[in-house]
Amino acid sequence: MTSNSKRESSHTQNVIDAIGTGVSLRIRQVMSSLIKHLHDFARENEITFDEMMAAIEFINSAGKMSDEKRNETLLLCDILGLESLLEEIALSKENKDNSSATVGTVLGPFYRHDAPVRENESSISQPADEKDTIYVHGIVSDLNTKKPLAGAWVDVWQANGIGLYEQQDQHQVDYNLRGKFKTDKNGHYGFYSVQPGPYPIPSDGPAGDLLTLLGRPIYRPAHIHIIARCEGYKSLITQIYNRKDPYLKNDAVFAVKDSLIVDFEPMEGNSKAKLEVNFPIILVPS
Ligand code: BEZ
Ligand code: FE
Repeated sequence: MTSNSKRESSHTQNVIDAIGTGVSLRIRQVMSSLIKHLHDFARENEITFDEMMAAIEFINSAGKMSDEKRNETLLLCDILGLESLLEEIALSKENKDNSSATVGTVLGPFYRHDAPVRENESSISQPADEKDTIYVHGIVSDLNTKKPLAGAWVDVWQANGIGLYEQQDQHQVDYNLRGKFKTDKNGHYGFYSVQPGPYPIPSDGPAGDLLTLLGRPIYRPAHIHIIARCEGYKSLITQIYNRKDPYLKNDAVFAVKDSLIVDFEPMEGNSKAKLEVNFPIILVPS
């Protein structure tokens, strides 16, 4: 080791050693590792003071833009592949026997926790929006017993046909294309909706600036978001994708998983929908 690199690593060690004795093991582990990687990153790339200030301004501007309706900071984590990586890490820690459970994927910045409860077989599309074209349904069941789960909650949200969530579009009513459905005694949920469109992720802020800087595409394939919850089971955050979507291979946030891609099948004899989306949900006991 040269004397320079000795001095550098002792500086890093001093910062790690400054962590107080009373902190939890987890905080000590995570923060020591963060300091080490951050210092190594700065050394490897010879980061300048001006570059650090530019990064701080960038993070501050994402923070200022974030609120209940739009989470720009989460969007940054998504385009850097962090949220999808955490999903991968969680999966690798799971028991191998869980591999037939429905897989999770990113939450994204458009979730609203207080969506209205709706009746099964009703529509999540409010009158101001387009006509229903799809029927989405499935059975929620237990991974181990395979038994259907009655009384599970299926919380859904999606963009409209031109790829806009209600909070991005003054022509849609509040909570349009959102709803919470409770499974019946057979574990069944079902709702009508419009076919969602692919959309560019919000690019009028720091996340968009970063994508432009990196020369990356800004589109997400069309999808329907789901959070499934049931007492005694791990909550599942996931999305449904249409096999025919042209953007499946270059999702801006790396969230597509093969097992979440389904066929939107033509639906005969249903006056309300042209396409059927069958999406069974298999939950893991907690
Ligand atoms: C979404 O699917 O809503 C989404 C996910 C990550 C980033 C941006 C949007
Ligand atoms: Fe989305």
